[in-house]
Order: sequence, then C-alpha cells, then structure tokens
Amino acid sequence: MSGKLRLGVNIDHVATVRNARGTAFPDPVRAGLLAAQAGADGITAHLREDRRHIHDDDIARLKAELTVPLNFEMAATAEMQEIALRHRPHAVCLVPERREERTTEGGLDVVHEEARLGAFIAPLREAGCRVSLFIGADSAQIEAAARIGAAVVEIHTGAYCDAHHEGRIADRDAELARIAVAAEHAHALGLEVHGGHGLTFETVAPVAALPQMQELNIGHFLIGEAIFTGLAEAIAGMRQRMDAARA
Ligand code: PXP
Repeated sequence: MSGKLRLGVNIDHVATVRNARGTAFPDPVRAGLLAAQAGADGITAHLREDRRHIHDDDIARLKAELTVPLNFEMAATAEMQEIALRHRPHAVCLVPERREERTTEGGLDVVHEEARLGAFIAPLREAGCRVSLFIGADSAQIEAAARIGAAVVEIHTGAYCDAHHEGRIADRDAELARIAVAAEHAHALGLEVHGGHGLTFETVAPVAALPQMQELNIGHFLIGEAIFTGLAEAIAGMRQRMDAARA
C-alpha cells in the first residue's frame, strides 16, 4: 500500500468567522473552490446539529459547485441521514457529537452501537455514499467498523497532535505508534484508512508517512494559517510536507 495521499480540506471555520458577524462572508463555498484550485483533493464540511458553523445551504451549494468530492461530516441522527440522502455526497463521515464540546473530542463507539450504526449506514451505502467512521486507534472499534460494512475508517489523530504541541514526547510517540498499528489493522481488514484532527505543519509528516493512510482531513490549522499566508499557500505547504513524508 502507498501511492498518493489525498488531502481533504475542512472549511468549517470559514463559516465560523462568517457566523461571528451573521453576514454572508467569508463564504465557505468560495474557500472550498479556492482550496480545490490550490490542490485539495476533496472538501470536508461538518453540519452540526446546532449549525454553529456550516449551514444547510452551505452543503447544498458545496454539492452544486464543487468539482472535487465532498466529504459530509455528520452525527448519526435521523435528521442528518435525511439531509445526506437528499444530497448524496461522495462520502459521509460519521462522528460523535456533543453540543457542549468545542470540537469532535473522541471517536465513535461502534462497538456499543454496532446494530444501530449498521442499520443507519445501510441506506447511505445504497445511495452510493462512501461511509467513513471516525474512530480512535482501537482494534475493537476497527473490527466493529469492518463488521458493519463501512468502507472507510478515519483514525482520530487529536491525542497525538495535542501531546506533540504540549511537549509530552513519550505520549506523542505512544499515540503515533497506536495510530500506526490501527492503520495496519484496518487496512488488513479491507478498510480504507483516513486520518485527521488537530494536524499541523509540525505533526503531519509521521502520519502522512504511514503507508496505509490514503487521506488526511485537515481544517483548523489550515484556516488559521490562511490568515497569515493565504489559503493557497497554507494548502501548498501542507501538500508539500505530505508528499515529502510519503517519498
Ligand atoms: N476529521 C474529522 C472527523 C473531524 O471531525 C475534524 C474536525 O472537524 C477533522 C478531521 C479536522 O480536524 P481539524 O480541524 O482539527 O484539522
């Protein structure tokens, strides 16, 4: 396994800035189009239950205007399932969601929700969406994801990134080792392996170097970096680090 590692750019926080003023700008769809021009292989947007950043209309416009695949992140609720089935995005990434959290803090508990999630993803699969489950680097969760017929697992890289940026080197290395084992395990079970959450210029290379990784989804850091250098340069910088790690 190896080959080109795809970069999915998450544009949620363009909408966060827009919503801070209740205006129509900055427009996350414009950011998605620009990101694709700058080398993003796909665009990720998370429609949260509380609509704190991306709104329903953003999803409709992204689906209509993007020329690269849309990865629609959502919680496994009936409301979101109906929206996904209406738009039929290329991919649906299921994430756990808690209203009070600042961001997606952990992975899904597929083990304890196996029957419900299996039934939940069936119509999405039938509609032609690639279903991805956002999970921690945990063998039981990977096995459950494979059992219910998910096409993809996205492994949560947040704990690894936090440990790095907090200078907890032993923890960082242990987290990275867990991600590496999980990627190997998922790949061996026939799952496509993605990674994401918290990745930065400093943390991306070791994750990008894992041969089973096929896609990284990155948002917060890139949108923040874009304030200083522009979105195209931020994406080019990430792309270059990913490609170098892969080579
Ligand atoms: N992947 C998933 C499943 C996520 O929920 C998020 C955050 O929305 C990301 C990737 C991107 O994380 P970040 O914004 O920290 O780069």
